Amino acid sequence: MKVLLLLVSLCLFTFNAYSETRYISADYLVDVTNGKLIESPVVVVIDGKIGQVSRQDKIEIPADAQHLELNGHTLVPGLMDMHVHLTSNANLHGYKRLASSVPRTALYGVTSAKATLMAGFTTVRNVGAPGYADVALRDAINDGDIIGPRMFVAGPSLGITGGHCDNNLLPSEYKAKGQGVADGPWQVRAKVRENIKFGADVIKFCATGGVLSKGTKVGAQQYSQEEMNAIVEEAKLRGLVTAAHAHGTDGIKAAIKAGVTSVEHASFLDKEAIKLAKKYGTYFSMDIYTTEYILGEGEKAGILQESLDKERVVGARQRESFTQAVKAGVKMVFGSDAGVYPHGDNPKQLSRMVRFGMTEMQALQAATINPATMLKKSDELGSIDVGKVADIIAVKGNPLDDISVMEDVQFIMKDGVIYKQ
Ligand code: ARG
Repeated sequence: MKVLLLLVSLCLFTFNAYSETRYISADYLVDVTNGKLIESPVVVVIDGKIGQVSRQDKIEIPADAQHLELNGHTLVPGLMDMHVHLTSNANLHGYKRLASSVPRTALYGVTSAKATLMAGFTTVRNVGAPGYADVALRDAINDGDIIGPRMFVAGPSLGITGGHCDNNLLPSEYKAKGQGVADGPWQVRAKVRENIKFGADVIKFCATGGVLSKGTKVGAQQYSQEEMNAIVEEAKLRGLVTAAHAHGTDGIKAAIKAGVTSVEHASFLDKEAIKLAKKYGTYFSMDIYTTEYILGEGEKAGILQESLDKERVVGARQRESFTQAVKAGVKMVFGSDAGVYPHGDNPKQLSRMVRFGMTEMQALQAATINPATMLKKSDELGSIDVGKVADIIAVKGNPLDDISVMEDVQFIMKDGVIYKQ
């Protein structure tokens, strides 16, 4: 008998030491998988995973249980942003950016990572960082040295000589060159291999010119079809997703035809580009809030005059394209380009996504289940469903009535750990 008791208490002890169960109840839960609102939900979190999703009238919560009662709140899956630059400082643009070393940018990343997590983003895709500072940041978060979202990272973005992903600010004697610069099919393949070698989870390349780069035409294609085909094929061989920076119509189409996973910005869409995206199953990641910051605060932060001029054309046109893409049913993911604007302001884009054509549910799906599916991680991430990682946030009120409540996240749990309550 004594032995049995000892065994039982030993078991209980181990159970307590290694297993933690938490009950979270709220007024609503946004079920992004089924596009439904669940009333009076209870979520049971066991050891950082979602163990059960039920209704308050269908579950007995033990009196001594750890129970978080989030009355007046709605539970939403942890948000996912598919286009950030955590190592970029939004106050430093243009020539001001040249003064930061790679180690310094990694340290900006520490602050940005925290701000991003505290805005409710539990996962991000970092699409471009010099010196693999994003790899270091991802690893520091995973090792528990600092707090931040789960990161999927690209390392240095691939681009042509003199293109949007090169560094064109200085005259030739300074020999400044973007680390991801590669020309020709074999050079780009070698660059993909190099990025994978040093820790990339995703391959980012510049298919067209851009707004914030010096001397590039935003509408002009940069990589040739042949080069884009080589990049995407090489990345696919190694099992990585790809992201193409593309504003101009031709570059967008070439990237889609190359089989890219997502087109970033996708500003100058036409009917054919939309049709191609639907045919190939390409995702669009459209940063439709950025324009407000660039035109409002950009000059102070050092954004070049030529970039401000380009933005005046791109911003409005991109929002029209967004409306058309949504209407046509292209697969959409939330991508903010935070880093151009302050980290932590990411949620502001959600209300713009609704203003320019999405339902509130579509906007939330674009920031949760769609990215998880795009990254082939929907068995772990993207919704509050049994078996997935406990990435859960809560907002006051109901975001399906008023999406702007997403700008003030009240509760944040990532991997079952509470960061804000
Ligand atoms: N990183 C992008 C670029 O330089 C920012 C574009 C921002 N503008 C916009 N309307 N989305 O091209």
